[in-house]
Amino acid sequence: MILEKITTPALVVDEEIYEKNKRTMASLLEGKKIRLRPHYKSHKCSDIALEQIKNGAVGMTCAKLSEALDLADAGVENILIANQVVDEEKLSRLAWLAGVCRLTVCVDNEKNIRDISRYAVLSGNTVHCLIEYDIGMERCGVTTHAEVLTLARLIGSLEGVELDGIQAYAGHMSHEISVEARERITNERMADLKALISLLEENGIPVHTLSGGSTGTALQKTRHDFYTELQAGSYLFMDSTYRLPDTPFESSLFVLATVVSVRDGLAVVDAGVKSCGVDQGMPVPVGFDVEKIVASEEHFQLHKPSRKLRLGDKVLLVPGHCCSTVNLHDRLYFFRDGKVTRRVPVTARGCFK
Ligand SMILES: Cc1ncc(COP(=O)(O)O)c(C=O)c1O
Repeated sequence: MILEKITTPALVVDEEIYEKNKRTMASLLEGKKIRLRPHYKSHKCSDIALEQIKNGAVGMTCAKLSEALDLADAGVENILIANQVVDEEKLSRLAWLAGVCRLTVCVDNEKNIRDISRYAVLSGNTVHCLIEYDIGMERCGVTTHAEVLTLARLIGSLEGVELDGIQAYAGHMSHEISVEARERITNERMADLKALISLLEENGIPVHTLSGGSTGTALQKTRHDFYTELQAGSYLFMDSTYRLPDTPFESSLFVLATVVSVRDGLAVVDAGVKSCGVDQGMPVPVGFDVEKIVASEEHFQLHKPSRKLRLGDKVLLVPGHCCSTVNLHDRLYFFRDGKVTRRVPVTARGCFK
């Protein structure tokens, strides 16, 4: 099938660029201690996850229990839920899942740790834990070394839970345009993390894992080789928000859309916010410029396109955010030389619980 024949809007992947992004990541990691634990939320395709594991990833990172269940069902044996799981109903499934794969979850709260332990003991399984340490994002995590030490001691005293180490994710740095700022803040956080790890080790608590990092900080994380795991997700696809001056990765993911209405200075395509995530920014057309884009559910209005667009023309749009875009589609169409080479189901579409 040729690309133009796919019913639009559709999510398409340039296989050549995708393969290049994979090779680029492999070369960044070559000879380093840090291992890739790619984030599932960026593609949500179990076929791609298995491919990443086959190519050397230590396991997968995911955001939600439902994503972890999807990964385990596909045969992924080492899964990190890089989030807190709190509801009792989810904790029972979490504990069950720990008997299916090596499961790690982030923790930042004493009661939560006790609850996980209780369910793990009931199920007879061990849930591995990373204590989440907030290094400036102000999302989840504890903020002091003393709190980490207290939680680490608690985990050490309980059955059914085992401490792997620390998650320290600087998500607020991922899209920082200034390379200097990204480097400087990485260095500051690293010095603090080194002190934290020393404190834990002085107290007889080994830190096997230091997990974090993103596509935007992959260069820093691999250069310093201090973290043990890199959780980058977007590097395979990229998006229009990830156009950092130093990124070695390129956009491989596009929304294919059809021009459905034209008039002077305006072309309207059949893709909108129901097929292209705009939570981090508007899509960017490939091959031409526009003065502005206005979004609605099923349409993007392309104002003053620099190329003459005619009714029925096919347009490629680089999504503003690859992760939220993938979640809107049932499958990805990989293409090479204008021809569809494979169709990959988005198995964890809608897995946000
Ligand atoms: C905890 C965590 N790790 C890793 C990532 C991956 O980031 P990216 O897709 O920018 O590589 C994210 C993204 O939001 C995240 O929340």
